[in-house]
Amino acid sequence: MMRLILSIALVLLFCNMTYADDNKSLKPHIAKGKGEQCVAETDFMRRNHMDLLKHDRDLTMYQGLRDIDFSLNGCIECHTVNDSKGQALSVTDERHFCRSCHDFAAVKVDCFQCHASRPELKKEQMPIDKNHEKLTQKVTKP
Ligand code: HEC
Ligand code: HEC
Ligand code: HEC
Repeated sequence: MMRLILSIALVLLFCNMTYADDNKSLKPHIAKGKGEQCVAETDFMRRNHMDLLKHDRDLTMYQGLRDIDFSLNGCIECHTVNDSKGQALSVTDERHFCRSCHDFAAVKVDCFQCHASRPELKKEQMPIDKNHEKLTQKVTKP
């Protein structure tokens, strides 16, 4: 009898898990990165990106990763999320790649007070060419 109750409980638990897995609204919507793959294995990145990005990072504990450049600009280049007009969203928008996940996990980072949260617009993409300086400042921060 105990075995039966136990296996029913297990089955229920399992159903519940797959249900949660199928229910996309329970998970953050994370936009897909550009290109074939990330700078390291996706699963590894999910768990360890914070350590790779630190200013005083020490990669000795991650054998084989010392030659890779973990530039924050690089992350931003590949992980842009565009609005309906095709403009890259900044971190002020909740759909921004980093925020899509951090909001969900209740993580706050201050990185974008200094670093640009979307690729810098190229000169030819600027709406007006005089005022170039001003516009550049406006689009790079936050
Ligand atoms: C060459 C393009 C490229 C660069 C540069 C890049 N990524 Fe990625 N990243 C990808 C791709 C492709 C994937 C796998 C597809 C996906 O799920 O987005 C990915 C996946 C991820 C994931 C897992 C997303 C998820 O769905 O769970 C994280 C986290 C991540 N990258 C963080 C970073 C960080 C942090 C940097 C900068 C150090 C970075 N990436 C640089 C292309 C890139
Ligand atoms: C797949 C989900 C996911 C994505 C996408 C993601 N992060 Fe994270 N990030 C996390 C989680 C979860 C933590 C908290 C981990 C912990 O507390 O151990 C975290 C923590 C961090 C931290 C450390 C914060 C602290 O206070 O210690 C930094 C820095 C960071 N992320 C940067 C980024 C940047 C930059 C991006 C976008 C390029 C990004 N993350 C995208 C899930 C993600
Ligand atoms: C007070 C300003 C400031 C803040 C806040 C800040 N950084 Fe930086 N960061 C800099 C400066 C200045 C450099 C060196 C100049 C450069 O290479 O762009 C730098 C360089 C870097 C680099 C190496 C160069 C590159 O292009 O990626 C990484 C990675 C980086 N920062 C990640 C982060 C992350 C992650 C956070 C948030 C946890 C953060 N920074 C917060 C100012 C800041």
